[in-house]
Amino acid sequence: MARGGRGRLGGLILAIETSCDDTCAAVIDGAQILSNVISSQAAFHERYGGVVPELASRHHLELVNAVVAAALEEAGTELPAVDAVAVTQGPGLIGALLVGLSTAKALAAAHRKPLIPVDHLHGHVAANFLEPAPLEPPFLCLIASGGHTLLAAVREPFSFEVLGQTVDDAAGEAFDKGARLLGMGYPGGPAIQKAAEGGAPEAFDFPVAMSERGLDFSFSGLKTSLVYRVRDLGPEETDRRRADLAASFQRAIVDQLVAKLRRAARSGEWPAIAIGGGVAANAELRDRTEALCDELGLRLKLVPLALCTDNAAMIGSAARFSDQITYPDYLDFDASAESARLAV
Ligand code: KG4
Ligand code: ZN
Repeated sequence: MARGGRGRLGGLILAIETSCDDTCAAVIDGAQILSNVISSQAAFHERYGGVVPELASRHHLELVNAVVAAALEEAGTELPAVDAVAVTQGPGLIGALLVGLSTAKALAAAHRKPLIPVDHLHGHVAANFLEPAPLEPPFLCLIASGGHTLLAAVREPFSFEVLGQTVDDAAGEAFDKGARLLGMGYPGGPAIQKAAEGGAPEAFDFPVAMSERGLDFSFSGLKTSLVYRVRDLGPEETDRRRADLAASFQRAIVDQLVAKLRRAARSGEWPAIAIGGGVAANAELRDRTEALCDELGLRLKLVPLALCTDNAAMIGSAARFSDQITYPDYLDFDASAESARLAV
């Protein structure tokens, strides 16, 4: 397969991201975001309490052309002027990924442009390379989303090493499942954060998984613990103490994330810490990570909220440092539900 060089690709990149339930397209020029359009499907999936894969694919299909057109228009450009088309190859929901990949292939092929397949997790890392205030490696990066929770050692922009990852649920999944148990909507993270505002985080004692070994995460015990709490309290008491339950549950998730960040930072190798993924939108996590960085004398990089949750600008950003595939070699290129290259 003919691949172009890997480097700091300049010029305009049109990027498409459809790995889960957001239909996203963006145009970037180097580290500058010219447009970043996100069409959230959350309202469609809310009634089911989580993302329904088949519905997500169908909505992507309905939305993707309009979202791409909006991204190009907002950037003040047109497809012929774009230098490359980037797209999330995986990991994610296979049907959802295929919609983005097929669209990207068709657009690139129609104009004989190169295609740049991107690992979604590399995208979350690469959100840090975008304006405003791009962060240069090396840095320690926590990515906590609905599908993934991992600590990445970022030593260069085109790769990262996984230092630790979840052995069961992702942090965002824990928020989502917790919210469902507490009778709140989807996505659960923002709902728990809001409910927690009026609650006492020390009201309930939830377990914080801290294995002796390494930097892996675990959230399934926490979820089980909430199941038992809710059962023991009964519906009326659960309802009355919802704010305390949400605050304590949120505290347990954040405690674990920050403890592992602290443990990873102990090596002294890292001048900066970055946090990304949807859970990085969490106010308590942001505050606590800031306090950790102050304490350890490290620089903290918090990407803007719109770049924390899934978006296509981060995919374009990763593409700048990824392999290009020239026309027509990408025509038989496939999506991958699993992370194609966790350490890219
Ligand atoms: O990165 P993302 O948009 O999609 C995935 O790749 O999964 O992350 C979505 C996840 C959901 O689980 C959602 O509940 C969580 O991020 N999330 C939050 C907050 N906003 C979104 N979790 C905690 N606090 C928030 N404010
Ligand atoms: Zn994501």
